[in-house]
Amino acid sequence: MCGIIGINGATEVCFDLLSGLKRLEYRGYDSAGIVTLYNGSFSRQRAQGKLVNLERKLKECPVPGNVGIGHTRWATHGAPTELNAHPHQGKHVALVHNGIIENHAELRANLKDVPFESETDSEVIVHLLDAYLDKGCDWGEAIHALLQDLKGAYALAILFKEWPDVLVGVCSGSPLVVGYGTEERLFLASDVVAFAPSCAEATYLEEGDWVELNKGQVTIHPKKALSTVTRPRVPISRDQECITKEGYQHFMLKEIMEQPTVLDRALKMYRTQDCQITKKYDWKQISSLSIIACGTSFYAGCVAKYWFEKIGRLPVSVDIASEFRYRDPTLLPGSCALFISQSGETADTIAALRFVKQKGIPCIGLVNVPESSIAREADSILQTQAGIEVGVASTKAFIAQLAILSALVVEIASLRGTIPHEEKASLQQDLMAISGLVTETLKLSIPLQTLAPRFGQSKTALYLGRGSLYPIALEGALKLKEISYIHAEGYAAGELKHGPIALIDDKMLIIVLAPYNDLFEKILSNVQEVLARKGQVVFFTDTHGMRALGQLESQITVYILPAVSPFLVPIVYTIPMQLLAYYVATFKGADIDQPRNLAKSVTVE
Ligand code: F6R
Repeated sequence: MCGIIGINGATEVCFDLLSGLKRLEYRGYDSAGIVTLYNGSFSRQRAQGKLVNLERKLKECPVPGNVGIGHTRWATHGAPTELNAHPHQGKHVALVHNGIIENHAELRANLKDVPFESETDSEVIVHLLDAYLDKGCDWGEAIHALLQDLKGAYALAILFKEWPDVLVGVCSGSPLVVGYGTEERLFLASDVVAFAPSCAEATYLEEGDWVELNKGQVTIHPKKALSTVTRPRVPISRDQECITKEGYQHFMLKEIMEQPTVLDRALKMYRTQDCQITKKYDWKQISSLSIIACGTSFYAGCVAKYWFEKIGRLPVSVDIASEFRYRDPTLLPGSCALFISQSGETADTIAALRFVKQKGIPCIGLVNVPESSIAREADSILQTQAGIEVGVASTKAFIAQLAILSALVVEIASLRGTIPHEEKASLQQDLMAISGLVTETLKLSIPLQTLAPRFGQSKTALYLGRGSLYPIALEGALKLKEISYIHAEGYAAGELKHGPIALIDDKMLIIVLAPYNDLFEKILSNVQEVLARKGQVVFFTDTHGMRALGQLESQITVYILPAVSPFLVPIVYTIPMQLLAYYVATFKGADIDQPRNLAKSVTVE
């Protein structure tokens, strides 16, 4: 969640720390701060709220020094106030923390007579280090001792008043990466994106590593040890540099609009990476597939379940990672697991991956960030190649996940012998045409804007879908909730009369996803049930479906989408859900790219 940056070099760091934080702001924006070390003392500036507040303060009063650390926060322990903002500092040290110290209460209780300034779990680390330094430890001994004390997940960047040349990073359960700038300037950050414009190469720290950046020298120590290890230096992809809205008002709209290109790129990428996955495992022998993910990525997994079971005749279970890891799941020999994550850093998904890997089950990762923890820890990897997704509400990454999953399903079905050659060719042809259909669907952007005021004044909405569009109903509801703060629920349309129908009155908006297919008549009955209770129906269908509506058309609001093969309807029907959420949130004046209480990457459980 939170973003961390540190810089150690021969020139002033204040505004470079700020630029790094701007690039990390997607990780959290409750408060931010930086601290530098100059002439033996710390200079700190912190501000509640978005980074602009810190920027304003720094412009009035910059902090001096060639070494410093910064933080942008997504609050876990303690309200998003200035006092709880990082960096935290004590007598000897200042630090920033991403993660959660699970035993903070116990550690705090042991630190009797220490005056705590904040309610955070992080501040306990400051006082522990101060105590070790007071006892006469040098900085390395203090870190080594600290690591025996802490339980939980953490990435830390630490400055020591008495060792002004040293910037220390610690990473356990939360990622940290070292960047090599010019003129021996060194960087430390929770995401390579923070320093990508200034560095050509990076080193990804491994689980438990701690690192010293000192006058151009990088020394890495393995988990809880004083010995040293070498980790590879890898080039930083230039893609990491370009984060611009390209003329759009928001990243989210830009990311929605670029989905045709994203689809083409993902499918092209799939053709070069599929052999790895499809040849590595004997898919005829795989008895079942467990898909594990969170949020929108979980919904991509839910769509894939329909596809794998229908086309590949492969039994699939889909789990929310935070549930999976604690429910002691049974994993059968011969099964395989697939972890889906845009960021590749979602704490619960990583924990579930480690759990499954330990059981000896092959683990495949489907990620958008190729350098992420999931990409590095999975046995094999599929990349979505959607490009950096900045909008907190996931759009293009979801579409790219669906693209890769659909291509994978076709390949695996063919290997399992569940589809004949001609059907494989026809499904692949459908896939080749999908970006064109998405381009056509994006034209709904204008007509959907007129719906926004109706939704904007509403307090609640129901999204209904059947079959593989049920997960898209869930995703549509999630998008609306996330960015417009309107309560919304997704339901399998057949479930309506098992409870949610009680909610329907003349104020309730009901979004129905209904391409003309074998379930069309069934969903029409659901629409009749809604209309009989005076609900307001917004109906997404194709021209065939429109014709089949007959008299019903006059009682509902209809939007027409291009006809698409039943296999790929989830991809096309996702587009109006994203656009609708976007325009409703714009109508409400909400902060689209940085919705309240959210962060792009959920690195705490
Ligand atoms: C919703 C959204 C989240 C993420 C979820 C998982 O728009 O973005 O629900 O999908 O936090 O994140 P990843 O895919 O990075 O594991």
